Amino acid sequence: MALLSLYTWCLGVIIVYGWDPDAGIIKSYTKMNNVTVTATSGTHPELVIDSDDNVNWVSGYCLPGGYFNRDDINVLKGACANGSCSSGGAAKGDIISATDGNAYTVAHVNKNGVQAAFTLAVPVPQRLQVISVNGIFHGITTLSAYDEQMNEHVLHTFTPVDNYKVKNILDANFTVIKLGMYSASDFSLKEIAALGNEGCTEQVMVDLGEDRRVGTIRTRHWAGNNAASRLVLRTSVDGQTWKDVAELDPGALRPITTNIIPENVRFIALKYTVNLVNYKHIYSYEIDAWDEHGVYGAPVTPIPQSKSFKELLGVNGIWGWGTKQYSDSLTSNVNGPLLYGQVASHARNYHSMTWDINDPDLDPEFQEMANGHGTQAKWWLDWDKEYRAWNNANMSVDISLQFTNKTVPEHLWDTPEASAHHYGAEIAKHFGPSQGNGLVQAVEIGNEPWDYRASFYATVLRGMASGLKSIDKMLTVLPAAFQADDKEDTSNYIGTRVLPDNAVNIDVLNLHTYSFYNDNAGVRRGTYPENKMSMFNNIRPFTRWRDTNTLSKPIWVTEWGWDADGGGEDCRASECVSPKAQALYGIRGLMLLARSNVERATWYFYANTDDCNTLFCRSGLTTSVTTHFQKKAVFYAFQALLQHVGDSKFIGIVQEDDKGFVYSLGSNTKSNVNDNSSNVLQGASHLVAWLPIDIDDMSSHQVIINLPKGYTANGGLRYTGQTGTQSTRSLHSHDFTQSGHSLTLTLTTEPMVVNLVHSQDPGIIG
Ligand SMILES: *[C@@H]1O[C@H](CO)[C@@H](O)[C@H](O)[C@H]1NC(C)=O
Ligand SMILES: *[C@@H]1O[C@H](CO)[C@@H](O)[C@H](O)[C@H]1NC(C)=O
Ligand SMILES: *[C@@H]1O[C@H](CO)[C@@H](O)[C@H](O)[C@H]1NC(C)=O
Ligand SMILES: *[C@@H]1O[C@H](CO)[C@@H](O)[C@H](O)[C@H]1NC(C)=O
Ligand SMILES: *[C@@H]1O[C@H](CO)[C@@H](O)[C@H](O)[C@H]1NC(C)=O
Ligand SMILES: *[C@@H]1O[C@H](CO)[C@@H](O)[C@H](O)[C@H]1NC(C)=O
Repeated sequence: MALLSLYTWCLGVIIVYGWDPDAGIIKSYTKMNNVTVTATSGTHPELVIDSDDNVNWVSGYCLPGGYFNRDDINVLKGACANGSCSSGGAAKGDIISATDGNAYTVAHVNKNGVQAAFTLAVPVPQRLQVISVNGIFHGITTLSAYDEQMNEHVLHTFTPVDNYKVKNILDANFTVIKLGMYSASDFSLKEIAALGNEGCTEQVMVDLGEDRRVGTIRTRHWAGNNAASRLVLRTSVDGQTWKDVAELDPGALRPITTNIIPENVRFIALKYTVNLVNYKHIYSYEIDAWDEHGVYGAPVTPIPQSKSFKELLGVNGIWGWGTKQYSDSLTSNVNGPLLYGQVASHARNYHSMTWDINDPDLDPEFQEMANGHGTQAKWWLDWDKEYRAWNNANMSVDISLQFTNKTVPEHLWDTPEASAHHYGAEIAKHFGPSQGNGLVQAVEIGNEPWDYRASFYATVLRGMASGLKSIDKMLTVLPAAFQADDKEDTSNYIGTRVLPDNAVNIDVLNLHTYSFYNDNAGVRRGTYPENKMSMFNNIRPFTRWRDTNTLSKPIWVTEWGWDADGGGEDCRASECVSPKAQALYGIRGLMLLARSNVERATWYFYANTDDCNTLFCRSGLTTSVTTHFQKKAVFYAFQALLQHVGDSKFIGIVQEDDKGFVYSLGSNTKSNVNDNSSNVLQGASHLVAWLPIDIDDMSSHQVIINLPKGYTANGGLRYTGQTGTQSTRSLHSHDFTQSGHSLTLTLTTEPMVVNLVHSQDPGIIG
């Protein structure tokens, strides 16, 4: 719940009550009070909860002799103390030293007649993956293991050469019920130990201090090179009885998020099975846990949209839209603004500051530019000409002033705040809607300026925002894109950059969201937008931050999208998805953003990039200039969607769970929406519905919607993710059936939009 922000002047310092820079963050259970960590061996287990993915617990090692004192894995430990050993009669009373876990204490096995003999009944008969002996021998001494039929297997022969060394015998691959050691001379055992069925395991365990509802666990758990063969994630209520909740890949380099069935537990552990190689240590870096909503928290509370889908959808472009010509020379709709304006109501430009000024302290000389003499930095440049063409394609222009520490380093700014103020004021004076030529509606103070120090950026933001607003109140001002969920990622955390003193001149908050997650092997993948693990959910923490600190300011998502091949251009990144997925995740993603109350969703990118095929090179609505900007499936999908429901708005959620997402759309949205599906259907003109799963999943599922009185489903479209006229198909009786008020929809991963008609005559539907 947002608190009122009150501003108080106190000796020149603004104190803001209710401002919380970390309001977006859902604290991990492992970062709360009274959490402790223990491990089976090694040093610094506490590093797995220190909020740093790059420092780690290091285990001890099992082999050659590191496991002797481990009660949990040395299956012979304490056997002699329990009376399981015998030494043929002539031993001193020190036989317990053979299995006491301590190689510095010695059990003497003396000759009784012709033989010195030591036998040990294995407490829990099992396969012994390793038998370790550290002894002192005076002659040939054999080690035998007896199987269940009491057959003797001679496993090894010791001689004085082996004295004082740990000898590991690896071949007792049968159920061993007894071990024996025999010699014609006296011998001593410093230790005899064994690893059983489970082999060598290491565990690091977090005690949350109290029961917590755990549904999501994030681990950075890379065990080290070839260190482990298996890794089990387990939970426990009491620290004694464990439940294996997932098998993880011990070779995964990046952090992995695992969803589990939500349950109240107090203990979380990573249990590694260690490869049986000498001196293998296990590493573990970080463990975090949350409820079923995970790090992103609960979904945004839906409210009826103020913007239609047409108004929401925009596109990211650049000067000349890939043609290397001014856009005013692009006069047909095969490229440039007229092509992309078919699906975008606004366009965002990466407006490079270095095209305006060679030094951040200089004046851009926009008046000179208007007189045909270019900007201070580029003699040939005329932004007016470019932006006029964008406006003429009916796209409102949002310029993202592009500057980073790499392109405009901190040391170049002599007077950061004053220089930023001046540049902002000049931009507003020249392009602003009420004080300038009106070619630009919105200005972003940086795109992703994530390589500046936070405090430096905050100063520039303060100066530039006040410069822009001091001239033109009608200009919409945004900060650069930041995230509100990860404080540890200090490069782009909003909490240290957007501050009470610079937020006063900001109108809208700015978010980039891409649907990535790390798969089980730790490889980053593109995924469907509803995936609980997807970064696409970063709208949730961002909205919580907004609700707490800047409640009245809308959110624009100024970059989102997927990379895909298609149109003869390949896509070579682990994050690439299919052309069909790009198209249909595009529609589903737009619905999610509409339902999350954003005011703009600006697709990245207008076209593929022509000189690369890696991440963000294949995000285009069209192919690249090389292949003549052919429309990809995602272009057709948006075009068809806007033709169908472009003037409609999201009204409310009819259903939103694993079995299906069903939203109601309409042209006049009401102000109060709750989970009462008959309310959200009042006034609805369409339903959009789909299965929130991966596009490759061929499942279908039926959901039943109760329509309000007088409403009838009347055809509609299913979006197929194909190109051209194949991008949609009409709905048939297998897609939906209506019986009385009851509408049955067959949902697939391909979203369907069902038309609703409302008749005053209730007789129509009986
Ligand atoms: C938990 O931590 C708090 C604050 O550090 C402390 O006051 C409280 O006694 C602790 N509770 C337990 C059960 O240890
Ligand atoms: C030793 O005996 C105790 C008590 O019977 C038992 O709990 C323990 O598991 C035994 N240990 C071994 C190694 O057999
Ligand atoms: C041990 O025996 C099991 C079951 O018979 C077999 O699967 C495994 O490969 C054997 N291991 C070795 C090292 O011989
Ligand atoms: C822009 O909008 C106007 C008014 O709706 C319309 O007449 C014109 O055709 C549109 N231009 C383009 C390029 O779509
Ligand atoms: C900014 O760039 C300069 C070099 O131009 C570099 O020395 C400095 O470390 C950079 N700042 C950050 C925060 O990376
Ligand atoms: C839903 O709304 C309708 C109409 O306002 C009302 O009659 C019905 O009782 C509500 N149902 C629930 C479960 O709140």
